[in-house]
Amino acid sequence: MAIQRTFSIIKPDATRRNLTGEINAVIEKAGLRIVAQKRVHMTRAQAETFYGVHRERPFFGELVSQMIASPVVVQVLEAEDAIARYRGVMGATNPEKADAGTIRKLFALNMGENSVHGSDSEENAAIEIAQWFAGNEIVG
Ligand code: RTP
Ligand code: MG
Repeated sequence: MAIQRTFSIIKPDATRRNLTGEINAVIEKAGLRIVAQKRVHMTRAQAETFYGVHRERPFFGELVSQMIASPVVVQVLEAEDAIARYRGVMGATNPEKADAGTIRKLFALNMGENSVHGSDSEENAAIEIAQWFAGNEIVG
């Protein structure tokens, strides 16, 4: 498996509780390198674009409201098999179902406020990275 990049967000529930460093420590201990990172406060339009695939889902309005309630930290993570590796480190969407030691088991509050996002495919990783970072902001 080649070196791959994935896109990550440390979500508002986590930045509000000052957990950026603790989450980054879990990310780095899992062998993922943070090759780009910045703190931003998403606009409603940015959040609606980012989660556009969920537009018709019943939780979409709540999801967008949660994503714009406080700042987030957007990141590019690099590793061998980074997309699957980070999904493993994040844990299940519902923190009650997440494995021990995963970010969501350790820190998530509930299904919506689940502390992190990670890309679910190579195609989506490329789209999401391009929404938030210029090429020269990613330094591997
Ligand atoms: P993410 O996209 O944030 O990495 O999370 P995911 O793949 O594990 O989950 P996904 O199905 O893509 O859902 C995106 C985000 O929407 C919120 N959600 N709420 N209340 C609900 O039933 C519900 N379901 C999903 C979560 O914040 C989830 O991470
Ligand atoms: Mg998803």
